Amino acid sequence: MGAVAPVPSPPHPVFVKAFLALAVGAAAVAAAAGCRDDAPVAPTAPAQAQSREQAPTRRSGPPVLGAAVSWDLMRSSRPYRRLFLAHYRALTPENVMKMDSMAPAPDRLHFTEADGLVRWARRHDVAVHGHALVWGKQLPAWMSGRDWEPGELRSWLESYVKAVVGHFRGRVDDWDVVNEPLAANGSLRRNLWLREIGPGYVADALRWAREANPRARLYVNEFNIEGRSRKTRGMLALLKGLRGDGVPLDGLGLQTHLTTSFNPGRAELRATMRRYAALGLAVDVSEMDVAAAPGRRDALEQARIYRRVAAACRDLPACGRFTTWGFTDASTWLGTAQRPLPFSAAGEPKPAWRAIRSALRR
Ligand code: XIL
Repeated sequence: MGAVAPVPSPPHPVFVKAFLALAVGAAAVAAAAGCRDDAPVAPTAPAQAQSREQAPTRRSGPPVLGAAVSWDLMRSSRPYRRLFLAHYRALTPENVMKMDSMAPAPDRLHFTEADGLVRWARRHDVAVHGHALVWGKQLPAWMSGRDWEPGELRSWLESYVKAVVGHFRGRVDDWDVVNEPLAANGSLRRNLWLREIGPGYVADALRWAREANPRARLYVNEFNIEGRSRKTRGMLALLKGLRGDGVPLDGLGLQTHLTTSFNPGRAELRATMRRYAALGLAVDVSEMDVAAAPGRRDALEQARIYRRVAAACRDLPACGRFTTWGFTDASTWLGTAQRPLPFSAAGEPKPAWRAIRSALRR
């Protein structure tokens, strides 16, 4: 573990206020008890037209191939590093840019690992997709067991988003600003941010990110929104609302966590992606994996599913990035038994790898 950086100076006035306010006093929070029913999806923050300074949601060449990476493994394992560098041009930090890593205390930010990863990526000409600024999970321990004054958490979050996006400005210009905002029924998911800030937190976070880096491409990222479902309809409504209110938003990440028995069909997937793209957004595959049972049959079915998604991405000009959540079965959040990734635990290419390669290039 490296040193904990003090809040950068000279700080925004709001920054100091918020961080100082939070440094004082804490009490028990009845986390779940404070929850209200799922709030309606329409963002309530004041509408203000924002010009998008960032251009394109359409790419020129084939989609960029990326993978989520463990910074620990990247530093410690030469085979892991070599396999990644042989095949990938973009990465998403699996954990080191999450709030529990970067905000160890209310008044301090910790960038050591994230900075190390970004330096390494730049040295190897690998693009970094920032992940994830505002999420209901992987929150710092100090955030639980607190009673928040009205507005207190909102000011803290404003400071956090601006400080992080500002810190990486020019080095990381793509951000998952809001991760997993929706519940399965398509309404806003009950989490700390909805409870303490209200449904406007999504628009707020996007506006703060844009303020801190006018050139950044800002994403909402979500799972189980690749097919026809209430959650997909909820996402379309959320995105339309944000666009209609002039909230800065450039793209949607489809996490695409699938299994050999749970996956959208070809037509359904393509129609869904087109509907998101019709809103003028980039529509990227941001975290794909496909859990599979042991054996050749499932490995081939897994490859078919990867091919279907990679080909849909390649055929949609708005899909600029095809990213898997890890790349070898030796390191996956699902557990190695699920074999969800394109390389085996030994680093051998699987049928899924050949499917991805040929589908993206064709
Ligand atoms: C996962 C990481 O891979 C794990 O190491 C961590 O313990 C939990 O989070 N959706 C996301 C990712 O947006 O951030 C999650 O990553 C996987 C699901």
